[in-house]
Amino acid sequence: MMRWTALLLSLVWSTSIEPVHSAVATPRGGIATVPADTLRNPPLFVNQSKLPHTIEVSLTAAPVRLMLSPGKVTEAYAYNGSIPGPTLEAHEGDKVIIHFHNNLPETSTIHWHGLHIPADMDGSPLHPVPPGGSKDYVFTIDPGTAGTFWYHPHPDNRTGFQIEKGLYGAIVVRPNHDPLPPLPEKLLILSDNRFHADGSIDISAPHSPAAIVDEENGREGNVMLVNGQVMPRIMIRSGEVQRWRIVNAGAARVYRLAIPGQTFLQVGTDGGLFEHPAEVKEILLANSERVELLVRGTGAPASATVLRNLPYDRYTPQTRPTEWSRPRDLVTLSYTGQPRIVTPPLPQSLRAIPVLDTTKVSVRREIVLSQGLINQRVMDMHRVDVSAKLGAFEIWTIQNVVGMDHPFHLHGYQFQVLDRNGVPERDRRWKDTINVPKHGSVRFIVHFDANPGQWMFHCHILDHEDHGMMGILEIH
Ligand code: C2O
Ligand code: CU
Ligand code: CU
Repeated sequence: MMRWTALLLSLVWSTSIEPVHSAVATPRGGIATVPADTLRNPPLFVNQSKLPHTIEVSLTAAPVRLMLSPGKVTEAYAYNGSIPGPTLEAHEGDKVIIHFHNNLPETSTIHWHGLHIPADMDGSPLHPVPPGGSKDYVFTIDPGTAGTFWYHPHPDNRTGFQIEKGLYGAIVVRPNHDPLPPLPEKLLILSDNRFHADGSIDISAPHSPAAIVDEENGREGNVMLVNGQVMPRIMIRSGEVQRWRIVNAGAARVYRLAIPGQTFLQVGTDGGLFEHPAEVKEILLANSERVELLVRGTGAPASATVLRNLPYDRYTPQTRPTEWSRPRDLVTLSYTGQPRIVTPPLPQSLRAIPVLDTTKVSVRREIVLSQGLINQRVMDMHRVDVSAKLGAFEIWTIQNVVGMDHPFHLHGYQFQVLDRNGVPERDRRWKDTINVPKHGSVRFIVHFDANPGQWMFHCHILDHEDHGMMGILEIH
């Protein structure tokens, strides 16, 4: 109950100082004057299983009515009553059983974004769960797949709406031997939203001018949320190193994350840890991508800094929002008053990532992204767009022929990027989503090593996906 109240208050507060569709550069009242809440972790599931290496949980999607303030109610959707939903934590090798109950007034599914699991457990639009219906999702977490993932609904045409109403949660898969030393860990699920003055979620009316912009750009909101909170605070001690797992659960916003005056040590991405940590100034995080970062407390005791979202121009000039170039603060990073501690030593190498051998490639494909279309077509649930052999190694070239970025996502398999705009990738990394910039191209190699069946590939800007920028891959 306490969590809810705090979340709701923060939403009300943010809507009252930042009017919807505002292009005002500085929010009235100023963010700094309001004491920030500490970043809260989403709840964890209660494991109902007594068996070893088994996680058995119940997950209910249902409408929730939130009292924002006297007379103001927000109709939202939530998993187990919480936004974000509970975090699913598992270890490599675990068997996971999720008893899903759809108490929404509409069809839904749960998609386990990034996991390597059987096709009929993937929660794609091909496996809808009707209102009032239930489904057990059962799968085993493969060895070598530790990382940060997330879950969200994936019904035909309604994915964006349901995620924007509040249905999203994180998945953390831990290895049995972590190459990183034990570090204080933070989970940051990024999202944005828009609210009407009465507290309701602002989803533009079909065919309205706002809806046309949302369809083109993907729907963005002026309220920046981290675990459902506005501008929460993370405490760090001077000298300390924290491990942050960040998920972009936003419908369309591509984040460009930085902490002014310092760098991140990036250790992982969609499919888990890198081979070696990489020093980076900023992180470009497209929809549905994840990163793992080591944040080093280089500041002085009792000082403060921010995690900031820097402007990133993914838009066409015609629909580029007027306030796109405004940096937005997401989190306050506050140093405790305690004296600096000695930074723990960090490993130079993390793990070996198997090489997907390009000499084994039997098929090369070209996937062309244009506005709303993949290979000139809109999604058809009864059409197979790409048919591939189980066990095949393939190279896919994703070609974006329009002046807007499209983050391309493939279900069920992690791939390795070979080059971007012809520039070879320096490091081997597992990815399931890759941003394909305006008029850019990305080549990746993928191994369809298991799990025959039908899989989605799509743009992860939810409005684009829902309007048909999706195709079906069949592996047989
Ligand atoms: Cu996040 Cu089709 O997926
Ligand atoms: Cu997915
Ligand atoms: Cu797109």
